[in-house]
Amino acid sequence: MSRLDVFINRMVSQRACIDFAAQNTAGMTGPVFELGLGNGRTYDHLREVISGRDIYVFEREVASNPASTPPGDRTILGDVFETLPQALERFGPAASFIHADLGGHNLKKNDEFARNISPYVEPLLAKGGLMVSSDRMYFDGLQEIDLPPDAVPGRCFIYRKQG
Ligand SMILES: C[S@@+](CC[C@H](N)C(=O)[O-])C[C@H]1O[C@@H](n2cnc3c(N)ncnc32)[C@H](O)[C@@H]1O
Repeated sequence: MSRLDVFINRMVSQRACIDFAAQNTAGMTGPVFELGLGNGRTYDHLREVISGRDIYVFEREVASNPASTPPGDRTILGDVFETLPQALERFGPAASFIHADLGGHNLKKNDEFARNISPYVEPLLAKGGLMVSSDRMYFDGLQEIDLPPDAVPGRCFIYRKQG
């Protein structure tokens, strides 16, 4: 499989999982968290498919396309290892949907990062909430659930906190 194939599968899977999670948490009122703004493509998609919920973006340095840059009061700047504990103090276990795309090109580093950040993400999710990640996460209390039909196994992961 070429790198182009892998990239396309990741993009198709991100969209399918975000759409699935947005629909399946539509009845919840808690905020949506985007971990890793990057260019802002997935943030822009979240804006399209989420209504009636605040979207907060966690990013250490904003360098997104101006067309998909979140407002300052919805941007939580800094290293997620510092900003996620602060968010837990501020919001409590309230997030209805968390999307994470924090990795780079090094798969081994991504896996190590996902293992380390998982305990910081888990307590933020509300009961019944969904967490979507481009990397496998390492949660104690969240259950991995089946992917929607359009997503490619291994390119995206979905976890639920039992309600
Ligand atoms: C792959 S990009 C996200 C791409 C985005 N999903 C999009 O569609 O454009 C990953 C982003 O995560 C951010 N990031 C990585 N590690 C971080 C950390 N420890 N704290 C905060 N942001 C981090 C990087 O700065 C980068 O912008």
